Amino acid sequence: MLAGKRILLIIGGGIAAYKTLELIRRLRDAGAAVTPVLTRAGEEFVTPLSVSALAGTAVHRDLFDLTQEAEIGHIQLSRAADLVVAAPATADLMAKMAGGHADDLATTLLLATDKPVLLAPAMNVRMWDHPATRRNLAQLTADGVLTVGPDEGPMACGEVGPGRMAEPAAILAAIAAALGPRPLSGRRVLVTSGPTHEPIDPVRYIANRSSGAQGTAIAAALAALGAEVVFVTGPASVPPPAGVTVVRVETACEMLAAAEAALPADAAVFAAAVADWRVANAAGRKIKKDGSGRPPALDFAENPDILAAVAQRRAGRPRLVVGFAAETDDVVAHATAKRARKGCDWIVANDVRPETGIMGGAENAVTLITASGAEAWPRMGKDAVARRLADRIAAALA
Ligand code: C5P
Repeated sequence: MLAGKRILLIIGGGIAAYKTLELIRRLRDAGAAVTPVLTRAGEEFVTPLSVSALAGTAVHRDLFDLTQEAEIGHIQLSRAADLVVAAPATADLMAKMAGGHADDLATTLLLATDKPVLLAPAMNVRMWDHPATRRNLAQLTADGVLTVGPDEGPMACGEVGPGRMAEPAAILAAIAAALGPRPLSGRRVLVTSGPTHEPIDPVRYIANRSSGAQGTAIAAALAALGAEVVFVTGPASVPPPAGVTVVRVETACEMLAAAEAALPADAAVFAAAVADWRVANAAGRKIKKDGSGRPPALDFAENPDILAAVAQRRAGRPRLVVGFAAETDDVVAHATAKRARKGCDWIVANDVRPETGIMGGAENAVTLITASGAEAWPRMGKDAVARRLADRIAAALA
């Protein structure tokens, strides 16, 4: 899969460094050559001996250690790779990169390289959530640095949340994607995702069960193909992917405004589960029981149809507009009618009868409805659906 590819692998100082040993093994199994660089802090977690034994080559540790330093060895090292990977990428390493520091071998290589850079961040959840790290990540993303993870879950420090380094298999997939074709580079794609929340009063709202998983996977897959993705998300339960511009909204009206503000775009994918109605008489203050036993009367107003609004624009319509249709019966007939009614190019239809286990599940079985008919895809993981859809979008925009 990675035959002949050269990876410059920087191992930062974090407990996740032990997983990087496994990554080295997998990279070599996939045919890649790994040139390892171990930071001072990294050496506290894994030994140079284990790294070089697995990589099958010497490990670089010091800026002034390079035998060819007289020939500016660190510059050569930074260029003689197809991809530079930092795993684990610590908060400190990210901060230094965002600020353009070059005070050791790792940061010097990262500043000097002319090759794509992929980071696998790993840090304590509070460090990951800290505004400084968010700022640094935004800067690095804007600079074109790729990221994979972090994952959520229990951490070595005992806390729970995002911050665990992505698993070696996921980093390997991200490396393959980074080195693979990037047919969507230079293309801008809007993705809506997640549910919307429609307020009843300042503390209550109407919501739906969308997790945002499929929209998030689509945004990640598009970004992996090189697209500049604007990800407009309602309050989803899965975190947004790395490497996209995230615009957080609550209501359908806010989502419409954010979607329109994201235009022009080459393509737009509407994966959000938008509430059809909002409460027209939402109260400015918390509604109280008045003792009469009568519940408050809520008036509903229809929400704007964001997909239809964008698909039917006269000026500035994205070249490809993709909608979703969650149906419980006559999936193809309903989705085909929806495609015509909304004016979009494609509809990704799925059967959401409870017995399919698709709603809230990890898998999806979709039918792609285009101008030329209906195409049933086999049941597969939501990530695989996302990758296949992203490939189709890339082919349509080519
Ligand atoms: O009409 P229905 O809600 O079934 O259509 C689903 C498709 O329309 C999805 O792509 C959804 O994101 C989009 N939609 C929208 N704005 C709405 C309602 C649905 O963008 N108000």
